[in-house]
Order: sequence, then C-alpha cells, then structure tokens
Amino acid sequence: MMAVEQEDHLQTGQPPNAADMSLAQIDAAPSKHPPDPIGLAPSAHERLALIETVMEQVDEMVLVTDTLLDPPGPRIVYVNPAFQRQTGYTADEVLGRSPRLLQGPRTDQRQLDRLRRALDAGEPFTGETVNYRKNGEPYDLEWHVTALRDAAGGITHYVSIQRDVTARRRREEIERLHEAELAHATRLTMLGELASGLAHELNQPLTAIHAFARGGLMRLENGTGDIKNIEEPLRAIAAQADRAGKIILRLRSMVERRLPRRSTVSLNDLVEEVLPLAAAELARLNVRLELDLDPAPPHVLADSIQIEQVVLNLVRNGVEAMSGVEPSRRTVKVSTLPSPQGGRVELRVRDAGEGMSDEAMAALFQPFKSSKPGGLGLGLTLSQSIVESHGGRLTATRNTQGPGMTFMFSLPAIVSNEGSRGVSSPGVGG
Ligand SMILES: Nc1ncnc2c1ncn2[C@@H]1O[C@H](COP(=O)(O)OP(=O)(O)OP(=O)(O)O)[C@@H](O)[C@H]1O
Ligand SMILES: [Mg+2]
Repeated sequence: MMAVEQEDHLQTGQPPNAADMSLAQIDAAPSKHPPDPIGLAPSAHERLALIETVMEQVDEMVLVTDTLLDPPGPRIVYVNPAFQRQTGYTADEVLGRSPRLLQGPRTDQRQLDRLRRALDAGEPFTGETVNYRKNGEPYDLEWHVTALRDAAGGITHYVSIQRDVTARRRREEIERLHEAELAHATRLTMLGELASGLAHELNQPLTAIHAFARGGLMRLENGTGDIKNIEEPLRAIAAQADRAGKIILRLRSMVERRLPRRSTVSLNDLVEEVLPLAAAELARLNVRLELDLDPAPPHVLADSIQIEQVVLNLVRNGVEAMSGVEPSRRTVKVSTLPSPQGGRVELRVRDAGEGMSDEAMAALFQPFKSSKPGGLGLGLTLSQSIVESHGGRLTATRNTQGPGMTFMFSLPAIVSNEGSRGVSSPGVGG
C-alpha cells in the first residue's frame, strides 16, 4: 500500500510532503545489494516499503539532512513520525530548515563543535546534549550521526538518530538522591544504636553531678560548707559536665547533615597538616613520630577535615596505648603507600603499645567501649563511619613484627593523566 503510494509520488514528482520525497531520494542511491539468483530478496519497492515502515514505527527520532555544514546549516530533508511526536514539530515545519532550530541555551556547544569536526573528517559521531521541543521544553538527547554515501563514496546526506533520554536521566537523578538519602538513613540507624548507649553514658555524669551537688548542699546545711569544702564537689561537677558535653559535641558532629566538602587532596598533605595538632600530646608522653610517606601518591577525593579527624583519632589512640611502655619504645609511625589492591591509597598508623586482646579487637568499633579512664569510646566509631562514607574501611591488625597495633584504611585514588602525581587542581568542590 505504502509502496504504491510512494511510487506514485516518484512517478508524478508530486509528493504530498517533502519527507516522502527525501526518503525516495535516499533509496534512489545505487543499490549495494548482491544479485539475487533465487529471488528471495525484496524488490526495490518492497525494500522501500519496509524502510518506510521501520521509519514509521521506531521510537528513535530519525532526521536526515543534506550536507551543507556551513551557516545557516544543513537543511532537513526528512524526519520520521517519532521525531514529530516527540519534538512537537510537524515535518512541514522543519523541512528545509536547519536542525539548529532544535537547539537552545542548554545545548552543549562543545558537542556541536565535536560533531562538526567528526563530520568534516567523514567520521560518525555519538554524543549527548539538550535540545528543545516546539513548546520550549528541553529534553536530554543521545544522538548518533552518520554520513550516507553514494556509490562513488561521496557524502549525499547525514542521518541523525536521536533518543530522548530525559526520563532515564531523571530516574538516574532520583536514584542518586535516593542513595544520598540512604547514606543519611544509615547514619541515622547508627545513631539509633548509639542512642541507647548514649542514654546510659550520659546517665553516669548526671548521676555523679547529682551526687556531688547533694554532697555540697549537705555540707552547707551542716555548717561545714566553707569555701574549701565546697570547692571539691564543684570541681567534680564541672569535670562531669565537661564529659557529658564532650559526648554530645562529638555525636553532633556525626549526625550533622552537612554537605560533604570534598576536594582533591593528597593524603601526605593532610597528614602533615594534622600532625602539629597531635604534637603536644606526643611531646607530653615522650612519643617519637616517624613518617614514611609515599613520595608521589595519587590524590584522593576527600573531606580533609573529616579525614584529618580520623588520622588524629588513630594517632591519639596509638600514643595512649603506649603510655605504659618503656619510653625508648614509644614510636608512632604514620605511612602512606599504594594499596596492595591497586587503585587506592592507603594510610597506616602503627604503634608499639600494649596491643589488644581478641575480645577487645572484636568490640573495637562499638561505641562507648573504652579501656581508658577518661575515654569516650567514640573515636573509632566516628572514624569508621567517616572512612566508610569515603568508600573505604578502617581495619586493625596486631603487629607481627614487634608489639602494638596497626590501624589502616584506604581511599580510592583519582585517576589522572599526569601519571602518579594525581590531578593538581581541586576537581569537585562544594
Ligand atoms: N592503638 C591501639 N592500641 C591498643 N588499644 C587500642 C588502640 N586503639 C584503640 N584501642 C582500644 O579501643 C578502644 C576504643 O578506642 P576509641 O578511640 O574508639 O575510644 P577511646 O580512645 O577509648 O576514647 P575516645 O572516644 O576519646 O577516642 C580504646 O579504649 C582502647 O581500649
Ligand atoms: Mg580514641
């Protein structure tokens, strides 16, 4: 049916619309089909009908232009029904005009430049951009352009096959948002687990504060409450309140829903920045610090402040673990190195301290488990959640050579074309 109509147009030279004419022109190119001795191949008319049906029914937008690449640009000689449905333009509205009528402010000029270079070089092009429907609505587009050639190899037309991927992009965006939500929810679940511990943990200083306050009051009531006698319970109250405050402060930093401020950083720079903060404690406990930094580590994408917190927690734990060992043995070693798994940078903090029992190691990342008189037992819990949010995992092993522990984590390296030095400027900010 369609083939017959098509043929009429060809014979009369009076197509009902130019789209049909251009299809006919395309098919008029000399056939590259091999001879068909047993007569199974479709005739030229049948082929034409088949192509027409394909063009009618595919979901991809198909647009054919002539080859005038310079302004005002190539002229559209054919668009299929999917194009008309999805852009809102009828064939009559676009035939003879340049595909530029689909472009707008969000159309990526660099893609257009790439397209031009590919076409000038006679190569096919694949890209993504934003185009605009007739009603002005933008849509995301995946698009592929190839040249049609005649028997002599000369380019006669360009065929652009386009797919509207707006819905897919939107889905991907929703998934991304969902993942961010999920990460936050995971942290909230963790907070739920923390909450019961927290109630217990805050109860201790509160009970102590209560007891010291009552003790002080009693002394006043008994008439034994001179300044000296009152000073002692007041100091104890202040110390307990201080402890309660610290617990709350550290938990707050964990659940605060701030946007991660990630940038491209070197773990070495980060280590060097954070160590002065640990210096006082190192000096007080007579601990030597050894650095063994990879001379040219790849950069990582990290929230510096958070990772510095982790390093500081680990160094402090190492220092504290050595308070009971002979001073000459007190060394904390911080190293950065390429991770054995590849594609990651590893940071290790090694001490020569008292080490840990199996039992203590099993409870290592549980909140509020502390062996120290003033310890909150939160350092490692917080550090683990930070490292995990950076795509890593904090682990601990007993040193096999010598006493003490080594804590380590690795972060994904940023691949760059500057070799092992990583990228030099912050890539992702905000
Ligand atoms: N390097 C280490 N060597 C031996 N034991 C360690 C080491 N690091 C941590 N631990 C043990 O794990 C426990 C938990 O450590 P974590 O850092 O979470 O809490 P903390 O140091 O006790 O208190 P804070 O919250 O102030 O850091 C410590 O109390 C200690 O018993
Ligand atoms: Mg600690």
